[in-house]
Amino acid sequence: MTEVDRRTFITGTGVGLACAAVATSAPAAAGGTPADTKTTVQLTVNGKAHTIAAEDRTTLLDALRNQIGLTGTKKGCDRGECGACTVHIDGRRVVSCMTLAVMQAGRSITTIEGIAHGAVLHPLQKAFVDHDGFQCGFCTSGQIMSSVALLKEARAGWPSAATGNVSAPFSYDQLSAAEVRERLSGNLCRCACYPNIVDAVAVAAREG
Ligand code: FES
Ligand code: FES
Repeated sequence: MTEVDRRTFITGTGVGLACAAVATSAPAAAGGTPADTKTTVQLTVNGKAHTIAAEDRTTLLDALRNQIGLTGTKKGCDRGECGACTVHIDGRRVVSCMTLAVMQAGRSITTIEGIAHGAVLHPLQKAFVDHDGFQCGFCTSGQIMSSVALLKEARAGWPSAATGNVSAPFSYDQLSAAEVRERLSGNLCRCACYPNIVDAVAVAAREG
């Protein structure tokens, strides 16, 4: 190789190395982890506005528990299977581990902490206490939030998979124990308190 050739080679290689350095740093800058990015979002929870900075991947469940401090909503499976994290969004029940906090701006979120009226328990909270609808209590907030919603859904005439004739409007007095079991089937209880939970919901349904 001649001197000129060597210089040309080294210069060319240097440029090549410089390009390589840019190429390797670019993905790191452009492809940073979601933890690098936070979005400011205002969540309305139990009628109160909370402004938080959340990573885009933060679930509503984690935002409620870790950033807003409402730990009544429980994390069981964190994958949509147990119902322990059930809350209401705009009046509909939602498993909060399966939705992102940044998606809930402007919506009305209700958690277990928001359903009593001051010191007066919600009728379903009272029914769970009266009928021993829990043992360890870990699933209970989700069970109650689902139960509140299921009574509302039944009143609105929504059928379930347990409804015999789904082509006819569902009437609230058809809300049997089988209906309650089916409508609560997304809420698991490791303590197997199901008979007492169904009793509690049935009594609240009659009284409510
Ligand atoms: Fe959300 Fe289990 S923690 S469904
Ligand atoms: Fe223990 Fe339901 S009361 S998991």
